[in-house]
Amino acid sequence: MNFWDRLENHFQATSNRRISSLFDNDPSRADKLSAAAGGMLLDFSKTSIDDESLKLLLELCSEAGVAERRLDMFEGERINVSENRSVLHTALRDPDGAPVLVDGADVKPGIRRSLAKMQSFSDGVRNGAVLSASGKRFTDMLNIGIGGSDLGPAMASAALAPYVDTLRPHFISNVDGSHFRDATSYLDPKTTLVVVVSKTFTTIETITNARTARDWIAGACGPEGVRRQFAAVSSATEKAGSFGIDMKRVFGFEDWVGGRYSVWGPVGLSLMIAIGPRKFLEFLAGAREMDAHFLAAEPKANLPVLLALVGIWHNQVAGYETTAILPYDQRLRLLPAYLQQLMMESNGKSVSRDGEPLTRPSGPIVWGEPGTNGQHAFHQLLLQGTRIAPCEFLLAANSHEPELQEHHDLLVANCLAQSEALMRGRGADSRDFKTDSNPGGAGNRTRLASHREIKGSRPSVTLLYPKLTPFVLGQLIALYEHRVFVEGTVLGINSFDQWGVEAGKEIARSLLPAVAGRADAAGLAGSTRLLIDYIAMNRR
Ligand code: F6P
Repeated sequence: MNFWDRLENHFQATSNRRISSLFDNDPSRADKLSAAAGGMLLDFSKTSIDDESLKLLLELCSEAGVAERRLDMFEGERINVSENRSVLHTALRDPDGAPVLVDGADVKPGIRRSLAKMQSFSDGVRNGAVLSASGKRFTDMLNIGIGGSDLGPAMASAALAPYVDTLRPHFISNVDGSHFRDATSYLDPKTTLVVVVSKTFTTIETITNARTARDWIAGACGPEGVRRQFAAVSSATEKAGSFGIDMKRVFGFEDWVGGRYSVWGPVGLSLMIAIGPRKFLEFLAGAREMDAHFLAAEPKANLPVLLALVGIWHNQVAGYETTAILPYDQRLRLLPAYLQQLMMESNGKSVSRDGEPLTRPSGPIVWGEPGTNGQHAFHQLLLQGTRIAPCEFLLAANSHEPELQEHHDLLVANCLAQSEALMRGRGADSRDFKTDSNPGGAGNRTRLASHREIKGSRPSVTLLYPKLTPFVLGQLIALYEHRVFVEGTVLGINSFDQWGVEAGKEIARSLLPAVAGRADAAGLAGSTRLLIDYIAMNRR
C-alpha cells in the first residue's frame, strides 16, 4: 500500500477524534508538533496530525525526492521542465555566495552587477543626486506592474512601512482607468518617479498604464520628463528601451526568475528605493537565512517542509479545498493576495511534470484577510459553517508601536483565541454561555443551545516571529516559497510555469475590437455577444 493510501486510511480511521483530545492524551503534543528556526516558531499542534500521520507524511516527502530536487533547484538545474528553465530566485538573495552555473556560466557576477546598479540608482534618487526633469527631488514613486511585478514590491512596501523613509511608494496594476486616476490624483508629476515593471514588457495592463503615465509626465514635464523620470525593470530590455526609457535606467533580469518569485531582484527596485539599500539587503539576508535552514534542517525540524506537509494533510488527504491566510498584522494586509499568486499560480495545475493528468487534488484555493478584521467578516463560517477551512495565523511578538502596547496585547489575545476557539469550540450545554445574553430564561437557553454550539476540532497552524522587520519578512516569504516547492514536488507538479493565464489574454485581445465598437459582435458566441451588445447600448 502506498503512502497516500496509508495516509488516507489513517485520516479516515481517526477523523472522529477531537483535536483537543490529542492534547489530553499527550501533554507534550505542543512541543512535539512545533518547530523553531531563525527566531520563528511554527506551531502545528492544533491540527489532527499525530505521530503516525507525521511519520507517513515525512516518508511521503522523502519518497517524492524533495531533498534531491531541492538541491537541483539551488544548483540551477532546469526544473521548470515545460519552459526548460532553471529556477534561481534563491541565487538573487545570495549574491556573494558560491557560484551557480546556468549554461556553464556563473550567474552570481551578473546578480552582483544588477544589485550594484539598483543600489546606485536608489541612493541617487534618495539623496537627491538623481533629480526630476524640473531639477527637483522626487517625493513620490509610482510602480506600474501587475502580478509578480506588483504584488511583491507592493506587499513588501506595506509590510515594511515603518522603514519607508524617503519617497512615498504608490502602485498601479489594474488596467481599469480608475486605478491610474485614483493613484495619481494627489501626485505631482513634476516630482514623481515612474518605475515600469514587466518581465515580458508585453503585459497589456502594464503597457497601457505605462503609456498613460508617459503622457501624464510628458504633459507636465515635456519629453525630457520621460527620460529623467522613468525607469524600467524587465527581461525584455530592448522593448523597455523602445518605450523611450533611458537604457541606463533599464534594469534587466533573467528568465530563470519567475514573476511570482522575483521581488529579490530588480523587481524589488521600488522597495529598495522606499526602504533604502541597507534595509533591502537585510530583506535578502532573511530569505538567505531561510534558504540555509531549508537546505540544512532535518525534515522533521524543517519549517518549509513541515508547513508543506500540514498543507498536504489538509488539502490532499483530508480534502479541505481552501487554505485561509490570516496575518494578525495590518501591515501584512497584502500578504494573502501575494500568497494567492505564489501558491495558486504555482500549484494550481492539473497535469504532472510529465504532462500526465494528476490523480489527486492539486493546490488549494488560498484566501484571507488580516486579523482582527476577519473575525468580523468570515470567522463565523470558520467556526460554525459546514465547511472546514484550515487556517494559517501569522503573528509578531512585538509591534513597531511600543507606545500602543495595549493594542498589541489585544491583537495577540485575539489571534490566540481564534485558534483556540476553532479547536475547542463551545459545547451545546448552555452553561457554557453567559446567561445574561439568553433572554427568555432556561427554556429559551435550551432552545438556543444548538444555535450557539461551536463544534470545534477545526485545524489551524500559527507562525510566530519576533517583529516584522526586513529580515523577518525575507524569512517569511522564503518560507512560503519553499513550502510551495515542497508541496509541488510531492504532488509531482511543475510549480514554475503558468500556461493557464495565456488563454484569457488571447481571448481579451480578440474581443477588444467588438468591445471598442470597431467590429460587429454578431460573430461572437451567444452570451458574450449579449453582454457586448448591452455594453454598447448602455455606453454613454
Ligand atoms: O499572471 C501571469 C503573469 O505572467 C505572472 O506570472 C506575472 O507575474 C504577471 O503575469 C506579469 O507579467 P510581466 O511581469 O511579464 O508583466
